[in-house]
Amino acid sequence: MELVRITKSTGSICLHNIPKWLIKYSSFLDELADFKHWIAWDAQTSPMGKTLQPNHYGILFYAKDAKKLIFNELRYPHKRTRQTNMLAKDYGGKKYLLHPYGPLVSDVWTDIHRVKHNKYRDTHPCQLPVHLLERLILMATNENDIVLDPFIGVGTTAIAAKKLGRHYIGFDVDDNYVNITKNKLSNIESNSKIGNSWVSFYLDEIVTLRDRDWNDIKQYFYIPTKIQDIDKLPIMLKHKSKVISSYYQIKNGSNNLFLFEDRKNLKR
Ligand SMILES: C[S@@+](CC[C@H](N)C(=O)[O-])C[C@H]1O[C@@H](n2cnc3c(N)ncnc32)[C@H](O)[C@@H]1O
Repeated sequence: MELVRITKSTGSICLHNIPKWLIKYSSFLDELADFKHWIAWDAQTSPMGKTLQPNHYGILFYAKDAKKLIFNELRYPHKRTRQTNMLAKDYGGKKYLLHPYGPLVSDVWTDIHRVKHNKYRDTHPCQLPVHLLERLILMATNENDIVLDPFIGVGTTAIAAKKLGRHYIGFDVDDNYVNITKNKLSNIESNSKIGNSWVSFYLDEIVTLRDRDWNDIKQYFYIPTKIQDIDKLPIMLKHKSKVISSYYQIKNGSNNLFLFEDRKNLKR
């Protein structure tokens, strides 16, 4: 109730949990705010007795006021097969209609994985991946907006907000988690950007961008001239293309080896 009260009329409320708890929250949130989505995040949770294998967390997404809501359509990269790097989905004769970067984000998120590797984890049992929060923040806020997480844990929401040029407020009852969060935040810069657009990166790839930013962002990618070719020739960030590949030989219509080094316009 308090969360809804303090949210701006253009703002939204996101609740992440297992379905069992989310249905309880939604029963009273429905009275206070406007339901927009149940986002299914494909990530394993623990079985609880006689159940199907629980394979998703839910994220309830409510608008304080659906008519005033800030909402940005998002895109994520086309899925590709691991072995061949071809598009995973068969678009048949419709490939020429594809967006060069990737599809619009739906309410099922299968491309963001839990933080498993100890190297990337703090000692928190429920630490979320930063790029999960970045996707929500890009969807529901604009630069300089305020993001509040009253259960901040080891700071994931605040880190995502800071990286994306948003302000943040976080609470946690556990002093240890608060200290970890403060420490991590002191080493984070607001620079998750390409050109003038805020984007979410993971392992040096853009994993979420706003649809309306694509016109500005596309100059930072090599994109096949014939869009059908992205089936086998993934678009590539120019600053990463120090590699020599047949893709660029094809794109340039020559058999000459081609080495790219184009970092000058890239702000990150
Ligand atoms: C599910 S974890 C959040 C993890 C966080 N999303 C992350 O990625 O690090 C919930 C956090 O809420 C904190 N917490 C529990 N009850 C609280 C309360 N009443 N007020 C503030 N924090 C609380 C816990 O200490 C825990 O760190």
